[in-house]
Amino acid sequence: MRGNLTRIREVAPRSRVMAVVKANAYGHGLVPTALCLADADAFAVARLEEALALRGAGVRKPIVLLEGVFNAEQLAEAARQNLEIVVHEREQLVLLEQAPPGHRFVVWLKIDTGMNRLGFRAAQVDAALASLVSMGERLHELRLLTHFASADEHDSPLTGQQLAQFAVLAQGRSFARSLANSAAIFAWPDAQAEWVRPGLALYGVSPFADQVGSALGLAAAMRLVSTVIAVREVLAGETVGYGGTWRATRDSRVAIVAGGYGDGLPRSLPNGTPVLVHGRRAALAGRVSMDMIAVDVTGVDAVQVGDAAVLWGPELPVEEIASHAGTISYELLCGVSQRVPLTLV
Ligand SMILES: Cc1ncc(COP(=O)(O)O)c(C=O)c1O
Repeated sequence: MRGNLTRIREVAPRSRVMAVVKANAYGHGLVPTALCLADADAFAVARLEEALALRGAGVRKPIVLLEGVFNAEQLAEAARQNLEIVVHEREQLVLLEQAPPGHRFVVWLKIDTGMNRLGFRAAQVDAALASLVSMGERLHELRLLTHFASADEHDSPLTGQQLAQFAVLAQGRSFARSLANSAAIFAWPDAQAEWVRPGLALYGVSPFADQVGSALGLAAAMRLVSTVIAVREVLAGETVGYGGTWRATRDSRVAIVAGGYGDGLPRSLPNGTPVLVHGRRAALAGRVSMDMIAVDVTGVDAVQVGDAAVLWGPELPVEEIASHAGTISYELLCGVSQRVPLTLV
């Protein structure tokens, strides 16, 4: 992850880096990730609880609440913990107006430039800014932020439009700006601005459908690994697993690996999805069950109980597994369940 941070700084040399560590740092462990990335300029989380966990672990760097706060108690806690807040709707302006004076917040005004999820629309920005500026004694610094909907799609016109709209709104104003997620950092250098907000790239994974992380100079930080707990012979014509969805076309050897949808492997993974057993690529055979998968290791020599089985990692890109599952790497990484022990190496 440190190497990936260095790579991001290389690609966006003029930007400060807000490391996005929400959702348990995309499955990598919130606190260990933040401690590992101590050189980041700030951290970004989605929920107050995540910010409190970081402060509780001694993280003193700026922490941004990407969705802001939703009531006065949360705002008071954000003040106590010196958290930076995103303000994306009128109610949050009102909360800030009504807050007892005393703490001066760093406020990130979120502008909706086309994602249509959170943020003030262009026509509302002047009023929101005026309202914030009028609360001078509650404000340490005001900054501007937007989020891209399609920065990972090279041929989408939307990112250019979002960039242009944001540029118009930010023009003539001296506020620090943040636009770029991982995809925009790499694909839209014009979007880098004062702050970038990488999540996925920090974990060494590519946001682009046609490239893996290593092609961007990143290294996968997570290896999801389990163990072969049984090896069995299956005769030609026999099926394996629930629903009998895999049928041996020849006498086969099948390794049973401890790991299933209870650990975060999608049940939608089809037959043939690669799994590394004994360091060799083998193919998923039959349905993912809660605690186990079966892997056809007929062509792999000397597989035995206790062998490591890699579900994804530096040697088997999570991007590839995600495409087999019909999903995105984000969902696989975030979906690794609580019962999977995290080991730092
Ligand atoms: C507001 C915001 N900024 C940045 C990110 C990081 O995005 P990525 O992981 O694609 O770099 C996210 C993640 O969803 C986000 O919601």
